[in-house]
Amino acid sequence: MKHFLEISQLSHADIVRLLKRAMDFKSQISLPHYPNVTLANLFYEPSTRTRISFEMAAKNLGIRVINMDFAQSSETKGEKIEDTVRTLHAMGIQLFAIRHSQNGLPKTIANAFRSGVKVINAGDGTHAHPSQALLDMLTIMQAKPHFERLKIVIVGDVLHSRVANSLQHLCALMGVKDFVLVAPDIWHPRTAPFYGSLTNSLQEGLQNADVVITLRVQKERLEASEVLDLETYHETYALTQTSLAWAKSDVMVMHPGPMNRGIEIDSDVADGPNSYILEQVKNGVYARMAILEALSSHEN
Ligand code: NCD
Repeated sequence: MKHFLEISQLSHADIVRLLKRAMDFKSQISLPHYPNVTLANLFYEPSTRTRISFEMAAKNLGIRVINMDFAQSSETKGEKIEDTVRTLHAMGIQLFAIRHSQNGLPKTIANAFRSGVKVINAGDGTHAHPSQALLDMLTIMQAKPHFERLKIVIVGDVLHSRVANSLQHLCALMGVKDFVLVAPDIWHPRTAPFYGSLTNSLQEGLQNADVVITLRVQKERLEASEVLDLETYHETYALTQTSLAWAKSDVMVMHPGPMNRGIEIDSDVADGPNSYILEQVKNGVYARMAILEALSSHEN
């Protein structure tokens, strides 16, 4: 694999291989070791779990890690990032996990280098978050292996969510039968989703659901006309004991984090028996190990 930029650049076979390797790593099958590989985490937006998850994954494979936290810096222009990557590459760093608020920036960086530099998209703007989609799919598959037959529902600000975008692509690629996006009208995507269906009714969406993924209300991404009253949002769209009863009794509750407890999800649901939220976090390390291995192995 040359880069890991977005789900749409991967084949069904690529995904199956990555998921299989992630499961091998989870079951402690012998680990490859890449002492000559270095990963730079270039995070131009705040992140806790994704950055640390890439770091843990790398260290589990003997990959060295350099962390650069630019969230507070004004150096967010594409041109300068290319120079940063060029400089770090000259020092011998090959892998770059990039998080940035600009859609498409990791791809621009990847395209700027002919060889040697391998870019991982760790979340770009409202566009894509492919490693999150992979860990979400891993979590679903392990609990409900016949995932093609499932009803998978995403609730929240699907208009601005890179998590929802990447998961939509992944569910399409993997042939998930019933995929539903639930959002208030002002957060509906500007064009119809290319896969699955869209509704503004949480009750309709949750009916018979096997998996529900709720999204953080991303206040930082909302324009003035898109802001909703949070109390009304909670009443209409939150995962609560009451709304969860509309889904199947064994529905998996998932959230990419960070959570706004009491807004998109109540604590008794987040910490309740249907919750897979910490399992997602755990699986994130294995999914990212599979991605790092695919980029580090010699055949590629
Ligand atoms: C998400 C992100 O940053 O896109 N979080 C994550 O990576 N686990 C979702 C969010 O910020 O709400």
